Amino acid sequence: MFIGRQHETSLLEELFNKKDGKLIVIYGRRRIGKSELMHHYLQNKTHLYIDGLEGEHTPKQIENFINQISHQLKNQFLKNTKFKTWFEVFQYLTEHIFNENKKFVLALDEFQWMAAGQSKLINQIKSFWDTYWKKSGVQLILCGSIAHFMVKKVIHSKALYGRIDLEILLEGLTPNEVTKLIPNKDPQEILRYSLIFNGVPKYYEVLDKNLSFEKNLNKHCFSKNSFFFTEIKKIFYSQFKEHSTYKKIAQLLAQKNYTLEELAKKLKISSGGSLKSYLENLELSGFVKSYRNTITQSKKGQKYKLVDPFLKFYYSQILPHENIISNNIGSDIYFRLVKPQINPWMGLAFENFCILNSRKIAILLGIENLTTYSGPVFSPTEGVQFDLVFIRNDKTITLCEIKYHSSPVSTIVVKEFSEKLKKFKAPKGFSIEKVLIASNGVDKNLSELCFFEQIITGNDFFKN
Ligand SMILES: Nc1ncnc2c1ncn2[C@@H]1O[C@H](COP(=O)(O)OP(=O)(O)OP(=O)(O)O)[C@@H](O)[C@H]1O
Ligand SMILES: [Mg+2]
Repeated sequence: MFIGRQHETSLLEELFNKKDGKLIVIYGRRRIGKSELMHHYLQNKTHLYIDGLEGEHTPKQIENFINQISHQLKNQFLKNTKFKTWFEVFQYLTEHIFNENKKFVLALDEFQWMAAGQSKLINQIKSFWDTYWKKSGVQLILCGSIAHFMVKKVIHSKALYGRIDLEILLEGLTPNEVTKLIPNKDPQEILRYSLIFNGVPKYYEVLDKNLSFEKNLNKHCFSKNSFFFTEIKKIFYSQFKEHSTYKKIAQLLAQKNYTLEELAKKLKISSGGSLKSYLENLELSGFVKSYRNTITQSKKGQKYKLVDPFLKFYYSQILPHENIISNNIGSDIYFRLVKPQINPWMGLAFENFCILNSRKIAILLGIENLTTYSGPVFSPTEGVQFDLVFIRNDKTITLCEIKYHSSPVSTIVVKEFSEKLKKFKAPKGFSIEKVLIASNGVDKNLSELCFFEQIITGNDFFKN
């Protein structure tokens, strides 16, 4: 069953209905649902959908391209014809396949592989686009999972400058949409899954629907050939050539948030060029985000945070047991070694989940059109950190306290939060709104105290 993606589909449909051709780029993390979105959109449209081959050079990519179109068009001639260059392939498509009187979609998936990591294919596309395809109303979709290639080499390429009509950075399904992927589950259980898989559809598909959360983790994350134990190679290491450095950065950021200088010191490399570009690539891939240090400073001293929930889980909970998992030593690794100490991690994962779903929180608070910044704020001068902050254009700062508890939060949180507030200096002219986000709600005393202006519970995330 195909779920969600109404916004993306309607953007694509809108462009499809225009007379001239449109150029679209779709990118996003592996497993997020890019190919599925395209298959869904291409139903009932005259189209060709071609997949690039991982790790192959141009001649193999061309051969694979021709094989796929000859199969889709049921064209024996193509199978028996040798095409040597992209120019010959595109000339064939232009002369024999595209037709000015009928809308045609050409969807190129895993485009970074098809281009073999280079710009030649992009330059060739530019030339055909300008001369023929745009005028003949072709809709061309370039889709890829390596974000730094798709952004730096495609979207920001000189060749395609000013030609791209739509960019889609595909994100996870919303918490509410996730309830359709694993139906008939208690919202608190769906929340636990979402702290690790935050809306990546493939990950929910791997789970056994009739096993508990803990048994699922034990089976699919903590055994030798399990999906999530091996997943790291596919989503992370295959993205980056220098994957050992990326691994070190991710491992450090899984423990703590760091500034550029702190990271450089830890890694014993300079904070200049290469580290900056590693972090930029991690940010483009959506694995890492940088956040403000204080309310007023936007760039100086910003901290990098590993935000991809699965990577956070992998590096802090799976990797430490890599040796016994890969050597198949003992069973029930989750129950023996992880479960006894996982609670503090789940608390941090809930904070991360809230940060990633800050749009939903803004909607629940009724401030989505007032917000100018959202994210955590680390304030070392005052020695205080707020889990999530919304800076608003009505001169209000919404400070959120995030609590992950198995029972409703009591009035104890008031003292804790008041201490933090004492140390916090709001910028001049700003007033403060206090919000509590409690995974399991609050008790009667706290709710009657009306200390927090608004309270959000874990279940609220799953409401439409
Ligand atoms: N909108 C959706 N509704 C339901 N299931 C989905 C949806 N999107 C993706 N899935 C499921 O998740 C799986 C992974 O999706 P898909 O292959 O499209 O990801 P992808 O982004 O193309 O990943 P990759 O970059 O690894 O190719 C699919 O097999 C599909 O079953
Ligand atoms: Mg895909």
